[in-house]
Amino acid sequence: MANTFSAKQFLTYFAKARTVYNTHSPFVYELTKQVLEDDRHYYAFDELEALRKKMLDLEREITFVDFGAGSHSMGKTTKRKIKDVAKTSLISPLKAQWMFRLINWLKPDQMLEIGTSLGLSTLYMQSAALNAQVITLEGNPSSVTLARRNFDIFPYGKNIDIMEGPFDNTLSNSLQKLDKLGLVFMDGNHQKAPTLAYFEQIKPFLSEDSIVVLDDIYWSKGMSAAWSKLKGDPQVRLSIDLFHFGILFFRKEQKEKEHHILAPSKWKPWVRAW
Ligand SMILES: C[S@@+](CC[C@H](N)C(=O)[O-])C[C@H]1O[C@@H](n2cnc3c(N)ncnc32)[C@H](O)[C@@H]1O
Repeated sequence: MANTFSAKQFLTYFAKARTVYNTHSPFVYELTKQVLEDDRHYYAFDELEALRKKMLDLEREITFVDFGAGSHSMGKTTKRKIKDVAKTSLISPLKAQWMFRLINWLKPDQMLEIGTSLGLSTLYMQSAALNAQVITLEGNPSSVTLARRNFDIFPYGKNIDIMEGPFDNTLSNSLQKLDKLGLVFMDGNHQKAPTLAYFEQIKPFLSEDSIVVLDDIYWSKGMSAAWSKLKGDPQVRLSIDLFHFGILFFRKEQKEKEHHILAPSKWKPWVRAW
């Protein structure tokens, strides 16, 4: 999703963010090492960025049903160029790599994505855990068609299960298909009330090994409010603020509830271990 956060919000995050050099909790230290510090380049990055480039070049128009951007446009059908959908909706390369590294580290068995668009983030998720079961939800029919085509291009995309329809219909059906929900990527309706409602619906299906990744936690006042509420949820034991993403963990071994604001050490090169 294209970001609309302000520079002030980013500076507030940045001032507070710790890096691998001043993070002391063992699990969080490992997370920073595996997700933010790992600079290995994977073959999938090149092929998926080539796919993004292809989408960004497509002038063809599709019918686009607007689902969740706000009450004014909700349900409105417009014509949009595929390249414009790609420009405004797709996960950025930085976030895609963080997501890939998180999944590659923790290897969840089952993943659910709320908001497929053209399928780029879905492919990043599946490529990081080739044996995982992936279900992704999308309401816009032409996005579903394009995502299906994109899934067919890659051997690891062929098993992705895309469920078409409003989340209000597909979310509960998708949850019935999953019995070991490892990771949920919430990247659909970026508003407070639906975000909280989807979380409540997902909650009974989470275990202490599950992870919920919430996209664009500073995208709007509503998303910031949703993030504050979710990180305060009693079932959440650990919350991680990466500015572009919020990550929730439910690990019971985490006795004290913790919240961490983290950034890659290269963003703060003056912070070093003594
Ligand atoms: C930000 S895009 C997803 C981007 C994708 N995860 C990626 O990074 O490549 C959000 C998608 O959610 C869909 N969406 C939003 N609200 C929805 C709803 N209530 N029901 C179904 N689909 C919805 C939109 O059509 C859009 O394609």
